[in-house]
Amino acid sequence: MHLGIVILAAGQGTRMKSSLPKVLHPLAGRPLLGHVLETAAALAPTRTVVVYGHGGERVPASFAQRDGVLWVEQTPQLGTGHAVQQAIPHLGGCDRVLVLYGDVPLVEAGTLQGLLGRPEPVALLSVRLADPTGYGRVVRDGASRVRRIVEQKDATDEERAVEEVNTGIMVLDATRLSGWLGRLSNANAQGEYYLTDVIAMAVGDGLPVEAVAAPDPLEVAGVNDRAQLAQLEREWQRRAAERLMRAGVTLADPARFDLRGTLRHGRDVSIDVNVIVEGTVVLGDDVRIGANTTLRDAVIADGAQVLENCVIEDASIGPRSRIGPFSRLRPGTRLLGDAHVGNFVEIKNSEVGPGSKVNHLSYVGDSTVGCDVNVGAGTITCNYDGANKHRTVIGDRAFIGSNTALVAPIAVGEGATVGAGTTLTRDAPAEALTVARAKQATITGWKRPVKKK
Ligand code: UD1
Ligand code: CA
Repeated sequence: MHLGIVILAAGQGTRMKSSLPKVLHPLAGRPLLGHVLETAAALAPTRTVVVYGHGGERVPASFAQRDGVLWVEQTPQLGTGHAVQQAIPHLGGCDRVLVLYGDVPLVEAGTLQGLLGRPEPVALLSVRLADPTGYGRVVRDGASRVRRIVEQKDATDEERAVEEVNTGIMVLDATRLSGWLGRLSNANAQGEYYLTDVIAMAVGDGLPVEAVAAPDPLEVAGVNDRAQLAQLEREWQRRAAERLMRAGVTLADPARFDLRGTLRHGRDVSIDVNVIVEGTVVLGDDVRIGANTTLRDAVIADGAQVLENCVIEDASIGPRSRIGPFSRLRPGTRLLGDAHVGNFVEIKNSEVGPGSKVNHLSYVGDSTVGCDVNVGAGTITCNYDGANKHRTVIGDRAFIGSNTALVAPIAVGEGATVGAGTTLTRDAPAEALTVARAKQATITGWKRPVKKK
């Protein structure tokens, strides 16, 4: 059996009131269409064709990295039947065609597999809605057999009372579908070529049509405006949080956790409220993440703790380290283990060896810091001369006094001590004290001036 998947994504999305094509709006950090493409790929189809139109080349350009997807432009957009028709020439060799919508992001592969498991030549996914307004209604006969689908605008009052609606997702025999599409007419209330008209054609040909009930209305809900987008975002997040909790992650409040990428985790990970996870994040065993922290493409090893209000991006944190509160780890930060990084500390493109501490109010950039180094409060690596970046190298066991400026390129030797307040412009040798500061003087008997009468 060769499966062809057609994803309809040409529609305008007027109600988004956006210059971004609707299917490119992000849900959980990825475009709506990206979710559908991923679900489609899980079904291992022979062909996947996306019908795009509104928004033009921006849509395929957003998925340029993705292999095995054919992009077909539909201009003008004359209806869902017309859209599927554009894809037909690209479905050679496919026995069955599954139609998906690019703006229905939550549909699950398991549900689609259920639909594909039906023996009938036409099977559609339907759902019962308390308020079916706007949808195509599934019209059944006295024996409860599906006869046709009637669109809201073409329906009689009696048909409008039907609560079972067409989700738009259907699977059809490829050869027959191609014949039916050729016979579609646009003589209806909207002047469009309706894909849904093929249902009555199948029935007319004496073929059985099955309507399979979707497990849950949100799974088959489309995004038409930003309120619906937010509603589906919440639903996606609810499901992601459920999955994580079932897999052994503690979430202080599943409603205040946002996953916008992939999270891999060990055992007994605990995540406090308002944490945002983006990109690819890996958390080892017993990792704790404090409230209001953002993790973006980060690897955090076993037993490490990130306290409240940290922003960590493209960084790795070694085992048993303690970060925050209020730390910012920027791209290229590697903390090797047992590191302490405290409040108002920014680290960028630097490696910090095991057991080293940068506890307060510091900037460490383009640096290599050895093990068991203590970087005092207010230390700044002056890595930028206005044109180029330069490196700072600090040896093992060095002690950098508070309020030191390290003017790079510069090296501090192993076991060196740099006195507080030093502006270091030449290398500090190992195992010695280097200090550069104005000499302190005391003038005894000195009197403050007094105001003249
Ligand atoms: C369609 C169905 C309706 C169903 C509803 C579910 C038809 C005629 N009606 O109605 O039975 O209840 O979906 O949401 O099929 N699209 C194109 N090209 C076009 C027109 C649409 O690619 O020329 C795409 C849209 O981008 C969208 C999907 O097809 O992803 C559905 O289009 P939309 O206009 O939302 O269809 P409805 O009128 O809501
Ligand atoms: Ca719609």
